[in-house]
Amino acid sequence: MPKIKIVPSILSAKMDKLQEEIDEIEDYSDLLQVDVMDNVFVPNITPQAELLKKFNTKVPLDIHLMVKEPSEEYLMSFIDANPNLKINNITVHQEACEYLGKTLDFIKSKNVKAAVAINPKTPLDAITSVLDKVEMVLIMTVEPGFSGQGFMEEVLPKIEKLRELNPELDIQVDGGINLKTAHLAVSAGANVLVASSYIFKSEDKVKAIKDLLESVK
Ligand code: DX5
Repeated sequence: MPKIKIVPSILSAKMDKLQEEIDEIEDYSDLLQVDVMDNVFVPNITPQAELLKKFNTKVPLDIHLMVKEPSEEYLMSFIDANPNLKINNITVHQEACEYLGKTLDFIKSKNVKAAVAINPKTPLDAITSVLDKVEMVLIMTVEPGFSGQGFMEEVLPKIEKLRELNPELDIQVDGGINLKTAHLAVSAGANVLVASSYIFKSEDKVKAIKDLLESVK
């Protein structure tokens, strides 16, 4: 299995102290996730690409788009938002993209890694045809839209199956990851752990990350 990576999601960070909170964790983060919601694909809304102008970090970004039909122009708004930031990957949802392969190809053509996400109820079959285009698959372990929800254990068999078929793939999990659940996801085969409320609501965020890593050893 590839190396375990920790990906704090800034969704639960304090927006008025965003830079401070990012500075605190950046030495302990493999990627930093920016969650983007449109109030169409999910029943919640967040700032769009302009959020990327509000902070700086040396940590490469993981842009998780919970957005219906992201257009090329829309994708470019993130890629071009802040030349001081490095975008590692853009993740789009299978359920949200009619021309999924084309969208992934476009992301890759801009030298950004492409990733695909599926919701808890979406079967793995839905993404089989694009697996050769992506560097990472995000298996949602909650219904997307809000941080602070409970980890859905029923998703674990899907992670097991994906890992069995792809020993080297980065398999990301997102939703309800904490000291009680991370080891379940990792035992099933996930290696990229996104956590928002667990990290950003902790008194000591660095300790929270270290404890999380320890819990999956
Ligand atoms: C869910 C988002 C997650 C969310 C996770 O809609 O995609 O990234 O922030 O939050 P926690 O870790 O609090 O479940």
